[in-house]
Amino acid sequence: MAEFLGDWKRTCYAAEATEKLIEKETIVMGWVDNRRDFGGLIFVDLRDRSGLLQIVFDSSAITSEFYKAESIRSEYVIAVKGKIRKRSKETINPKLKTGTIELLATSVKVLSDADTIPFELDDVQSVKEPLRLKYRYLELRTPKLQEIMHVRHMIYQITHDYLNRNGFLEMETPYLGKSTPEGARDYLVPSRVHHGSFYALSQSPQLYKQLLMISGFDRYYQIARCFRDEDLRANRQPEFTQIDLEMSFVDNTEDVMTMAEGMVRELFQKIKGIDLPKDIRRLTYQEAMDRYGSDKPDTRFELEIVNISDIAKDCGFKVFTDAVKNGGSVRMINAKGFVQGDNPILSRRDIDALTDFVKIYKAKGLAWIAVKEDGIQSVITKFMSQEVVDEIIKRADAQKGDILFFCADKDTVVYDAMGALRLRLAEIANLIDKSTYDVLWVTDFPLLEYSEEEKRYVAKHHPFTSPKNEDLELMDTAPDKVRAKAYDLVINGQEAGGGSLRIFNREIQKKMFKVLGLTDEQITDRFGFFVNAFNYGTPPHGGLAFGLDRLVMLLTGTDNIKDVIPFPKVQNASDLMTGAPDTVESRQLRDLAIKISETAE
Ligand code: AMO
Ligand code: AMP
Repeated sequence: MAEFLGDWKRTCYAAEATEKLIEKETIVMGWVDNRRDFGGLIFVDLRDRSGLLQIVFDSSAITSEFYKAESIRSEYVIAVKGKIRKRSKETINPKLKTGTIELLATSVKVLSDADTIPFELDDVQSVKEPLRLKYRYLELRTPKLQEIMHVRHMIYQITHDYLNRNGFLEMETPYLGKSTPEGARDYLVPSRVHHGSFYALSQSPQLYKQLLMISGFDRYYQIARCFRDEDLRANRQPEFTQIDLEMSFVDNTEDVMTMAEGMVRELFQKIKGIDLPKDIRRLTYQEAMDRYGSDKPDTRFELEIVNISDIAKDCGFKVFTDAVKNGGSVRMINAKGFVQGDNPILSRRDIDALTDFVKIYKAKGLAWIAVKEDGIQSVITKFMSQEVVDEIIKRADAQKGDILFFCADKDTVVYDAMGALRLRLAEIANLIDKSTYDVLWVTDFPLLEYSEEEKRYVAKHHPFTSPKNEDLELMDTAPDKVRAKAYDLVINGQEAGGGSLRIFNREIQKKMFKVLGLTDEQITDRFGFFVNAFNYGTPPHGGLAFGLDRLVMLLTGTDNIKDVIPFPKVQNASDLMTGAPDTVESRQLRDLAIKISETAE
């Protein structure tokens, strides 16, 4: 039978008890982490959000209360009153923060009993994810997730503090908005009042925050939930959180980047005690693609990509010459020392597996030249003259023990395949020092990209991103060459945040819509409210959004976004704890005038 607390008030958290409290009456409350029975003595590790404290129930000291301690089991919720005492030398537990003390109980209240839980909390790693997520509230009791949520909390506080100090106003924008084109797929919410009409859950506060600049708020921020119905990955969730900001009267990408950088510096300093380098590297998009095959390069290791199209264009190997002739390229990576000695990093079988690996990225194959002790090994060199082979070896600065990998195709495929190969090779050879942080900006993104699917240009960032002044003229003649005033902050090969300066000139906005192939009607229908606002006085403005969940991942060293969200969703976007999404009652559907078609069931 559960007791109530009565006049008991907690005096401290379990793991906050220290030697200063010795001999002081102390009340702690929490969960029974484990219980060890030694006849007349029972030891209980009491757990709360601070950690653990050992409680001792001594039958000779608290005879009347002792039977209660005997009935206590794991995960019971109890309150204990007693006196802190020093442990004898031989019983000190160096693994616990409170390992030199214990609480000698004088009285105990069992507040709640507990069934045997479906898995052991100290062995959650071995429990399958579906079970853990079904009982997420239990998994959240583990020190790992408790710690991560504390860091997450610190990130909110540091963010608020930094942005408040810099004159940003915290404002909220609607989650229920209008579906606009050009983003990811929307989550739609049917309207009960307007049958057949839908809200779209906000994919980001983008349009609203720009309108707030037009309203004169000057500097805005919001820790905002965003909803995107896209395929999930290890660092993507259908609802995630952004630290979203926008500022007015900025005319230079550096203004926003410096402001955002300052915040990240403070996060690293206050949470990890790490001072990021004074000058954070900047790579242009083109440079990032050419050297690392990715717009979010991990530069904690080398394995840089080298373009050999000039050598390959008439090298004799048809796959290579054709690729260059068709407007593509041939690029290589020198995997230094990967085929050295009797026990090389890459066996012949591993090399074949890498060929299959790059095919995932649409590459047709992966050619290679191994520079072995007894000469060159390759199936492609027989098509080439010795001079060509020598030239490639020289360009790669290849030595014995190295293996050169080549991919020939159109640029987009080569970048993707070589970028992925680079990461794979680093993983195989364990080249990444996980204790370091690699922070850089990628700038000068292309404004547009051609969509084969839609047979038109689409905005790479969003349609309100400003082109670079010097590229304005290319808007008409070579839209794919226009660079944007856009920037991404990349940390350890992850896009931690991104933003841009916005178009605030009506003529440029018109031009942009024209390149995107939007008709006046479509513009008015979808963006009318937004475009109109620009007619009434618009300051130059720009901003950025960080993926807060990704920052938590980076600052806690986890590579799974589910670890940093209290109640996350799984790959197929369902919530295994609540069972959402779920069917609803037919009455609810009737209210919304929605009929489920047979194919959907
Ligand atoms: P963007 O779409 O690049 O920009 O998003 C900004 C940052 O949000 C994070 N992010 C995600 N995190 C988890 N799960 C997802 N599905 C997900 N999608 C994005 C990334 C990304 O860098 N309105 C613009 C910002 C601006 O221009 O100001 C925007 O939303 O870390
Ligand atoms: P093949 O002459 O088609 O047998 O190809 C010889 C080698 O070139 C094989 O190792 C293929 O994997 C590789 N290869 C084929 N297509 C490409 C390509 N597009 N880029 C790089 N290597 C390729």
